[in-house]
Amino acid sequence: MKILRGMKDILEQSDEFLHLIKTASKLAQNFGHKFIQTPILEETSLYLRSVGDSSDIVNKEMYSFTDKGNNNVSLRPEGTAGVVRSYIEHNFSKGVKQQKFFYYGPMFRYERPQKGRFRQFNQFGVESFGVESVLEDVNIIALASCILKDLNISATLEINSLGCKTCMPSYKEKLVEFLNSCPNLCETCQMRKQTNPIRVMDCKNPACKNALKNAPKITDCLCDTCKRDFESLKEHLSLLNISFVVNKDLVRGLDYYNKTAFEFVSNALGSQNAVIGGGRYDFLTQTLGADYTPAVGFAIGIERILDLVTLPSAKLKGVYFGALDEQFLAPLFKAYSLIIGKKLCHFEPSVKSLKNHLKLADKKQLRYCVIIGENEASKDCVWVKDLLEKKEKLVNISKLENELE
Ligand code: HAM
Repeated sequence: MKILRGMKDILEQSDEFLHLIKTASKLAQNFGHKFIQTPILEETSLYLRSVGDSSDIVNKEMYSFTDKGNNNVSLRPEGTAGVVRSYIEHNFSKGVKQQKFFYYGPMFRYERPQKGRFRQFNQFGVESFGVESVLEDVNIIALASCILKDLNISATLEINSLGCKTCMPSYKEKLVEFLNSCPNLCETCQMRKQTNPIRVMDCKNPACKNALKNAPKITDCLCDTCKRDFESLKEHLSLLNISFVVNKDLVRGLDYYNKTAFEFVSNALGSQNAVIGGGRYDFLTQTLGADYTPAVGFAIGIERILDLVTLPSAKLKGVYFGALDEQFLAPLFKAYSLIIGKKLCHFEPSVKSLKNHLKLADKKQLRYCVIIGENEASKDCVWVKDLLEKKEKLVNISKLENELE
């Protein structure tokens, strides 16, 4: 049996995966976010209405099927829509609007697999609801930046503003006028011109890229409020010493964004170099039929940064238990029973010489080596060697826990 195309076991990098989740969860909590877990399966219409029917995700990448109850359901292609559905269902948009969440788990997109692009991949995401101020965008970007810093990953922050309901429509008109004057746009861009023209900025086709060099840019067409907010975003990022570049062509692949859009890109990766993507999506709750609730968030592509995560240098920790003869396994097990569940433990069931027990404890990077032989058993003791401090002593079994740091 073989794994499905575009899917990946997290096995060799499982330590890096757990380190990432632990680091990011702790930082998200420090920024006031609460853990949320939403189902992997949702009604297909949730994604049609939120991610948007002009997006590639909804158009060609969804894992959708009809379940036994005749419901049209989909494996989630991203995390934001499910969190917004849950936020609305728990009545937060009518009550305490300000809520902050974090989540992680698998997402599914039927894309053409390549390095850094999978059909099942994991995201770590955060969402903040109910804060209109651009300072919340700054907070969210600061959280992303802290996570990368704590994981020792360097990436460039690219920012853009996608404007709002006041400035975006007139910009779109201007852009479409420009696109109509470009004869050689690819088929996808021709289609996007009709459905969501700003997505043409995302086209990787060299001919389109060339044609779009002189296209009007949204940041040059912002209304006064969006212009002021974008300036404030840049100013406050600088105050936090978070460096950024303005990428006037940055548009996101999902339809729900307005105002701030951002990505962290790494030049240590290939063409799939975006490690974090996010932005503001003030109108999504309304699109899904609830009250207006400003919101902003991001998601990290876990598989993309696993290669870049360096684990903190391994520290010796935990306890190794070994016996010099079969008959001492029972008293050794008694010592083990006092520590089990309190510390990382390895109980070695096979009898070995002291030298071989020490070797194995060393190989497993355990700090304490607890050994029992005839001398120790006769005194109800164990021999304990601290492999970090290089000290050894006889310890009464009942006092063992106090001896281990
Ligand atoms: P996204 O840009 O579609 O945004 O995905 C976020 C990140 O997930 C990307 O930057 C990338 O690292 C990773 N990613 C996306 N597709 C794949 C794939 N096929 N294989 C591996 N990694 C991938 C969202 O999903 C939004 N929900 C982010 C957000 C949260 N915006 C506001 N809140």
